Amino acid sequence: MKLSHRITHLTGGGSDGWDVFYRSRQMISDGIDVTELTIGEHDIRTAPSILATMDAAARGGHTGYASVPGIPSLRDQVAARVQERTGVLTTRDNVVITPGGQAALFAAHAAVCDAGDTALYFDPYYATYPGTIRGVGATARAVQARAENAFQPKAADVDAAAEDAVSLLINTPNNPTGVVYSQDTLKEIAEVCRRRDLWLISDEVYDTQVWEGEHISPRALPAMADRTLVVGSMSKSHAMTGSRCGWIVGPQEAVEHLINLSTHTTYGVPGYIQDAAEYALKQGCDLEQEIAAPFRTRRAVAQQILARQNLLGLVPAQGAMYLMLDVRATGMTGEEFANALLDAHRIAVMPGESFGQAATGHIRVALTVDDTKFAAAMEKLCDFAAQCAAMRRTA
Ligand SMILES: Cc1ncc(COP(=O)(O)O)c(C=O)c1O
Repeated sequence: MKLSHRITHLTGGGSDGWDVFYRSRQMISDGIDVTELTIGEHDIRTAPSILATMDAAARGGHTGYASVPGIPSLRDQVAARVQERTGVLTTRDNVVITPGGQAALFAAHAAVCDAGDTALYFDPYYATYPGTIRGVGATARAVQARAENAFQPKAADVDAAAEDAVSLLINTPNNPTGVVYSQDTLKEIAEVCRRRDLWLISDEVYDTQVWEGEHISPRALPAMADRTLVVGSMSKSHAMTGSRCGWIVGPQEAVEHLINLSTHTTYGVPGYIQDAAEYALKQGCDLEQEIAAPFRTRRAVAQQILARQNLLGLVPAQGAMYLMLDVRATGMTGEEFANALLDAHRIAVMPGESFGQAATGHIRVALTVDDTKFAAAMEKLCDFAAQCAAMRRTA
């Protein structure tokens, strides 16, 4: 039977730099000890107090259909968090709870793109972005955020690509680069959005992981609240990746339609998960900082180790749970380097090529194993790069 073009063409097809990831997973299932610095998942689990709340809520009977927009008290909590951190008036009417940030990304694009519309996103990008756009029947158009600009996107590049576009998807703090967009970058992008009448979909799932500079939500910039949909999630901020709880914050009219979309797709998020999310958010910044702390420490460890060499270039590591390293001085592509590193040292990193074209010749290192193991892996990675470069010189 024929399947839809939309679903069979969701992903790009062919090798897209993920081979090394699948190879490392295979090695692990074959019993080989691999240091996995690939995907963005904490090495701790959800805090016991959050689990206890979840358990009590489920046992207390919150296991039936939950309110589709999200339970009012969680929507209030998300609204309060956003208003407190951005200064933009936000009420529960601006919030819809979704099963994680990914579902929010899909819903946000469904809300603003008709079939055949063009939606913009930056390359390098989080792996699902183009597929999410294609999933709603729109055309995904990449705008390069270039390595020579330290992966800060340029508003002029957005402008040049914006002719027939309806939306722009951004992500700061950024996965995969670890870059935090500056106020100037965001102001200039916002200006293009206003002039070109674009929706701005702002993926802020790493908003609690900022090591340098500050996280600015573009919804707070002048005249942006009416054209911005902010995607948030409990996954990264509260180590709740498996709980699937996130949200969209946006204009009330958009939220009303998004709630209707939820009714026809997900039918909401389990009540006991929402109770746990509400409890977690009520713990405020202290819990968020506790969860972010190991990434901050490992980033500092990596900076110290990298400072002892001058072969691998560190892209400004300002936020999120990743480092992006420029491996071009080894003479290898990111994909070649990642594959060779896995074979030589059983260390798995993601090639930059798996995040599009702009990060070719780079690798992404996730800060997601314990400090000692992480430091040892970084030392080996640097030594390996030096060996590769030396071999290249003598070849
Ligand atoms: C940039 C970005 N956005 C969204 C997500 C989706 O997160 P979740 O669906 O777990 O909230 C991820 C997950 O890695 C991500 O890196």
